Amino acid sequence: MAVKDNFNKQIEDIGRQLKIISIITSIASILFIVLLLNPNGFSFETIDTEQTITEVNEDLIENGIHVRTGFKDAEGLLTVVQNCTSCHSSKLVIQNRMNADRWNATIKWMQETQNLWDLGENQEVIVNYLVANYPPVEKGRRENIKDIEWYELNNR
Ligand code: HEC
Repeated sequence: MAVKDNFNKQIEDIGRQLKIISIITSIASILFIVLLLNPNGFSFETIDTEQTITEVNEDLIENGIHVRTGFKDAEGLLTVVQNCTSCHSSKLVIQNRMNADRWNATIKWMQETQNLWDLGENQEVIVNYLVANYPPVEKGRRENIKDIEWYELNNR
């Protein structure tokens, strides 16, 4: 009787071990497939670094340019960034080159029609920055073409 019990027990043990091995194998293969389909699935590093970069570089200036907005680094830059980029892109500001009168008129227009707030003393800082860094460019007619080789028309 004791021998038979012992034998049964051994069979049970082997069965249990096989069960454990097969469970481990299936978990391992599921993990393997998940990793195969999504190699970065278990890495949270990418998200972390992106967050740190945006926090740190909010007002980063590179080669004289405020990276986040593209504005030139000069006196008044941060006043302009704070007041002129919350409703529209900085590109809208940069592409419009005006003199002081027209900037003041544009600001007045935005205040009357677009809910732009009263800029107080900052208005002068902003207009000075804009005129100094984005002055109007003359777009005259093109230069005359020189050194032309004329050829005779051959109308027959
Ligand atoms: C409260 C929102 C708001 C703020 C803040 C704001 N703007 Fe505007 N601005 C607008 C709107 C709205 C328009 C019209 C956008 C459009 O036409 O798509 C506009 C248009 C403009 C234009 C184009 C005008 C044109 O004639 O086409 C310029 C240039 C401009 N803004 C410059 C500035 C400057 C400089 C500042 C900072 C003093 C500023 N904006 C701040 C709302 C704002």
